Amino acid sequence: MQFKFVLSFFLATFASAAVIAPLPDGCTSGDPNVVRRVPVPLDARNPTSVSTLLENTAKVFDERQLLTERPRYSAPLLEALFPRSPSIDLIIRKHISGSHVPSQKNHQYEVQIFSRDPLIIYIQNFVSSEEVAHLLKVSEDKYEPSKVYSSFDGNRVDDQMRVSESAWMDRKDPVVRSITRRAREFQGWRGRNSTVEPLLVQRYQANGFYNYHFDWDEATTRGNRVTTFMSYLVANCTGGGTNFPFLPQPSDDRWCDVIECDEEGRDGYQGVIFKPIVGSAIFWENFHPNGTGHKGVYHAGLPVRSGMKVGLNIWTWDSAWIKPEELE
Ligand SMILES: *[C@@H]1O[C@H](CO)[C@@H](O)[C@H](O)[C@H]1NC(C)=O
Ligand SMILES: *[C@@H]1O[C@H](CO)[C@@H](O)[C@H](O)[C@H]1NC(C)=O
Ligand SMILES: *[C@@H]1O[C@H](CO)[C@@H](O)[C@H](O)[C@H]1NC(C)=O
Repeated sequence: MQFKFVLSFFLATFASAAVIAPLPDGCTSGDPNVVRRVPVPLDARNPTSVSTLLENTAKVFDERQLLTERPRYSAPLLEALFPRSPSIDLIIRKHISGSHVPSQKNHQYEVQIFSRDPLIIYIQNFVSSEEVAHLLKVSEDKYEPSKVYSSFDGNRVDDQMRVSESAWMDRKDPVVRSITRRAREFQGWRGRNSTVEPLLVQRYQANGFYNYHFDWDEATTRGNRVTTFMSYLVANCTGGGTNFPFLPQPSDDRWCDVIECDEEGRDGYQGVIFKPIVGSAIFWENFHPNGTGHKGVYHAGLPVRSGMKVGLNIWTWDSAWIKPEELE
């Protein structure tokens, strides 16, 4: 287990200054990719369909469960999970990450716990502006219509589920390697069967969206997508937030820098809506420590109303994941 990267931490309270960079333009969201359609007739283009589901789902996923079993987290994550002062519910850590690219060696990002169960971490400046520019440039001639994967149908375009264009990044690209390594290090030791998947850039034009889904494959019994980073490279849009309909809206309004709090921004949707903010990433664990998928991370990329959003997905695949017995 080698983390060479934890060089220093700085604790900052919220008393000074804004926690998170202000929303650059108007956009509201980003979104991921994949895996499998959930058999619930939700339509991210219609807030009413989500309300109906929620009426039938009383459970709120906010138990304070500390994840200590699996995986073993990196130092930055543990620091954030077990703050020295438990009375501070919002904490920012600065973290200096290693890099393959000399100019990126001192890249810093800030880590902030959004939710412990499911584990969701907000990371400001996860991707630098130079990296954003590079990824946009190399994506340009690679875009293809995004597909939806299911164990039953394989990969196919499905405009009721997902409307966007996707570009797979070349693993050998030094900037891609650097970001991949940062993502791996952020998560700590997950076992030698865990690998960061090829990075995916996703472009959403007006009316583009990604319907509600989990990032894991519900049908498989061995090997699965265990974590997700949803980052944003372009957020020049209205709409387009990343919506987690089952998560309770935090009571602390300091989060309103990064999530939609007012009626207009929420646009009739339930739960939490992260605004797309260039360079920021939302990281989450897809599974409970026992290997059961966490329903709290059900999410959608809400429709882009105008302008353009480009997201960056970074997933971690664990080939040692085994479906818990009770579900087989
Ligand atoms: C943002 O979008 C507006 C209108 O959609 C467009 O005029 C402008 O050029 C865009 N800016 C950037 C930086 O893409
Ligand atoms: C990794 O996968 C190999 C082959 O499937 C397996 O033998 C090994 O036990 C796995 N390691 C862990 C830590 O799960
Ligand atoms: C795993 O843990 C979750 C949360 O505690 C629980 O709901 C689920 O039933 C557990 N699954 C198994 C197979 O024990």
